[in-house]
Parts: sequence; C-alpha cells; structure tokens
Amino acid sequence: MADYKGTYYITTPIYYPSAKLHIGHTYCTVMTDAMARFKRLQGYDVMFLTGTDEHGQKIQSKAIAAGVSPQEYVDEIVVGIKKLWATMEISYDDFIRTTEPRHMERAQKIWQRMYDKGDIYKGAYEGLYCKECESFWTESQLVNGCCPDCGRPVERASEEAYFFKLSKYADKILKLYDEHPEFLEPETRRNEMRSFIEQGLDDLCVSRCTFDWGVPVPNDPKHVMYVWIDALSNYVTALGGPDSCEKYDKYWPADVHLVGKEIVRFHSIIWPAMLMSADIPLPKQVRGHGWLLLGGEKVSKSKAAKGQDVIDPVVLIDRYGIDALKYFLLREYTFGQDGSFTNEVMLKRMNFDLANDLGNLLSRTVSMIVKYNGGKVPEATTEDDIDRDLIAIATGAAAKVEDKMNDFQFNYALDEIWAIIRRANKYIDEKMPWALAKDESKKAELDTVLRNLVEALRIVSILIIPFMHTTSDRMRDQLGISDVEALWADTFDFYKMSGAVVHKGDILFPRLDIEKELEALWAIPKA
Ligand code: ME8
Ligand code: MG
Repeated sequence: MADYKGTYYITTPIYYPSAKLHIGHTYCTVMTDAMARFKRLQGYDVMFLTGTDEHGQKIQSKAIAAGVSPQEYVDEIVVGIKKLWATMEISYDDFIRTTEPRHMERAQKIWQRMYDKGDIYKGAYEGLYCKECESFWTESQLVNGCCPDCGRPVERASEEAYFFKLSKYADKILKLYDEHPEFLEPETRRNEMRSFIEQGLDDLCVSRCTFDWGVPVPNDPKHVMYVWIDALSNYVTALGGPDSCEKYDKYWPADVHLVGKEIVRFHSIIWPAMLMSADIPLPKQVRGHGWLLLGGEKVSKSKAAKGQDVIDPVVLIDRYGIDALKYFLLREYTFGQDGSFTNEVMLKRMNFDLANDLGNLLSRTVSMIVKYNGGKVPEATTEDDIDRDLIAIATGAAAKVEDKMNDFQFNYALDEIWAIIRRANKYIDEKMPWALAKDESKKAELDTVLRNLVEALRIVSILIIPFMHTTSDRMRDQLGISDVEALWADTFDFYKMSGAVVHKGDILFPRLDIEKELEALWAIPKA
C-alpha cells in the first residue's frame, strides 16, 4: 500500500431523476471518478459521494403526468442511474437519495440550526401567480405576459413563506473569497460570483406550500423546504452530519464539490451561507466545469432526443467500451471550458490515441519480445542518448501528472502520459529493432530496446489507472506483471521488470471504420 496521506472527500452534484442521464452527467461523474481513483492510488482515504436530488415541484408534476406517485416515478429512474454507474464501474463510496429518511431528518437538523440562529424568518412571498399551475413566476419568466407553462394570464399574489437571511452573509462570503481564493477556482468564476454578490443579495425564499413533494419544514409541516436547501444539505447528511459521528468527523469538510458552471452560484454563495449560519465548517473548494455542447447548445435532458449525435452513454459503451468513452471525455475537453460533443471527434480520438498510439505500441512490443527473445523480457546493458531520453520522459511523467491532476487538468495529465507513448513509438522507429535482430553483434542493443519498451509500457500501465483501470489490467497481463501490485511510487524508477514473461493478448482497442461507425450511430433512433 502507498503511504497514508489523509482523507479526501469529493462529490458530484446530485442529479435530478427527472429523465435518464446523458453524456453531460457522465462527463462530470467520470471526472470525479478519475480524481477519486487518482487520490486512492496516491494513498488517500477517499470518500466519493454521488446521488440524486428527488424533491421539488418539477418532479411532482412529471409524476402526475406519468400517472404515478412521485416516489414511484423517481424510484424507477434511480434504478437506471445506478445501473449506468455500475456499468461504467464508477467507484463511488455512497449514493445519497434526498428521499431517504437519513437525509430528510438531517436536512431538518441543518434547517433547525439556521432557524435557531435567527436566520430563518416567516414572511410573504410576492410574485406573479398562475392559479392553474400553482406556480409563481417573475416578470422575466413570463411569455407574452402569461404563464410560460400553460399560457394563461397570471395575477399578483402573495403566499406565506420562510426566508433565509442570505443578505446577512454577503460580506462574509466576499471575505471568504479574499482570504481563500482557492475556495472557488478558476478566478473568472470567482469574479463572476463576486460581482453577483456586490450587486446586492436578497434574502432567499426557502419554503413552498403550493405542493408537498419535499422535506417538511420543522414545526410547520404545511411548508416544504425549497429544493436547493434540501439538495445542498446532502453533502453533510450523507456523512451522518450535522451532529458529530465517526464518518462525518472523519471526512467533513469536503475537499471539493465538483459541479457544472450553471450551479456554481448555489455552491459558492447559498451553500457557504447556510453552513456559516448552521456553524458547520466550509468545504475547501468548489470547482466549476464547463458544458458539453451539441450544435452550440448545452446538452440537456429536454434536448436529449434531438440531433444525429449519440449522447446516451449506454449506447456508446456498448459499441466502444467503458475505457474508450472515459478516455475520450477526459482527454478531449479542457476543464472549466465548454466543448462540442460530436460522434466524429469521439471516434477520431478513439482511433488515433487508443488504437494507433497505445494499442500498437503494446502489440508491437509484445510481438517483438516473443519473436526475438521467446517472450522473456531481456536485461538492458547498453545506454545511449536516445535511451536516456526515453527513460527521462517515462520516469518524469508521474510528477507532471500529479501537478495536472491536482489542478483538475485531466486532459493535460493524459497528455503527459501520451508523451511517453509517442516517445516510445518514435523510439522504435529510431532504433529499428528488426534491423538490430539481423545482426548477431547487435544483440545487447536489441535487448536494451526491448527492455526499455516494456518498462515504458509498465509505467504507462500504472499512470493510466485513474482513467482506464481495465486497460491497465489488460496491459499488465500482456506485460506479464499482473501479479505485481501497481504502485504509483514505481513510476519514478525505470528498471523494475527483471524476469517477466510477456503474453500476446487481444488487441486493446480495435481500429474503427469511422465512416461506417458514423452511419451506424446516425441510424440509431434517438428516443
Ligand atoms: O442541477 N455538460 O441537477 P441536474 C456538462 N439537482 N455537464 C453537464 C451537462 C452538460 N451539457 N448537463 C448536465 C442539478 N451536466 C441539481 C444539482 S447539487 C446539490 C444539485 C452535469 O440533473 C453538470 O455537472 O440538472 C451539472 O452541474 C449537473 O449535471 C446538473 O445536473
Ligand atoms: Mg440542470
């Protein structure tokens, strides 16, 4: 085992089970999984939380439309979500559902603490009301002055509601950004939040009484909590907080909440204010990632059915495998920025980086060792500048990968690993082992080449574990080191494989006929 480095608590957003999840949710969860696996490999005691945000008016309306109870409605979708994460081998440690009693009771405790602080008060919510839909709307949400849902006229109305003194915390949150700029990265996102706060924060309406699918407000159960107050609490309730207990004391405060950029505001303004009010320590960091776009627009549950590109992760995994999809998502996009999703970009990545660069390197190396040395990994007894260059790149990669990962730069971390792969492929071209094999006097040089290639691949097989653990296992099988524990620490030294025997195996990633694949994907009904 690697040295114990402490705890690391990382979370995804808890997704709405209002429809099945798509490539956008998969992207966030895959990044979180890669980080969790990276930290485990580094020796941290990791807690990785995901889950579902199951309350609110929207879910209740969907259930009514489907003719089932809200609980039945979400139960069915949650089965599908858990199945998706199981298929993708997502290594979460807990899955919290906001309809679970363990969550609801503890969310009420957080509310109670805020109430006892004097930060929650009863007032009147004023707005434009649609009687038919039992919904309040703001001026800007109206369509032609009418309800955006049903098109009927709205009227001014007011209802009794609870409010949270968010305004009281504006200065404290600005101070948090000043004193702990790392709380919200990148800086551009922090500046957006700062100017949002500086424009003035209103107190937040935190209860509803026009529907009942939610956590009842303590001592006033005709109100349910506003869904965001309920949802944000999950990060604490899943650990057993806010009251002291073993798991909560061990993992809270969270190291990072990974979220999409559209919900950074909730996590970096409302959430810290709630925690300050409830006397709970703040998470160390909120990281906002960018969106996957389809034809320039955010991939979303409502648009999931349109277009030619396949955004259902299950379909993509069935055709290309988990590791190819994960690699694509982690390698293609720059953290924090939006990026276009197209089947074509995905297929090209899979072909060039996986089938050509990595797959070929492994199969060429293993074949040559079988052919020239009966499968036995030889000793290296020579060394020239070309060897030294390969060794330096291979043994220098881990430190660079660590730097990039600690900054959530998954694509650049993978690029550092691919630098080894590209160097090794070039090394084969430069060294021309097939020519060395024809000359008896070059046997020592040939041995060095073969040995150096397997050592470079061994290092790659460890470095890719956070991103593609199955591919790592398959590589290690072929390299003949499947029974040696894969330790991060072993990527800093080069010669580790004395006595190993390689085995030819299946090719790692089949070459795809991109034109054919595009046609096949376009033909799939996007229901
Ligand atoms: O907002 N590109 O849930 P949600 C990238 N329940 N990521 C995307 C994406 C896209 N096109 N679409 C969705 C909610 N995501 C709340 C969260 S947390 C206390 C409550 C990802 O189902 C991204 O991480 O709308 C985004 O923030 C999240 O899914 C929103 O999922
Ligand atoms: Mg959303």
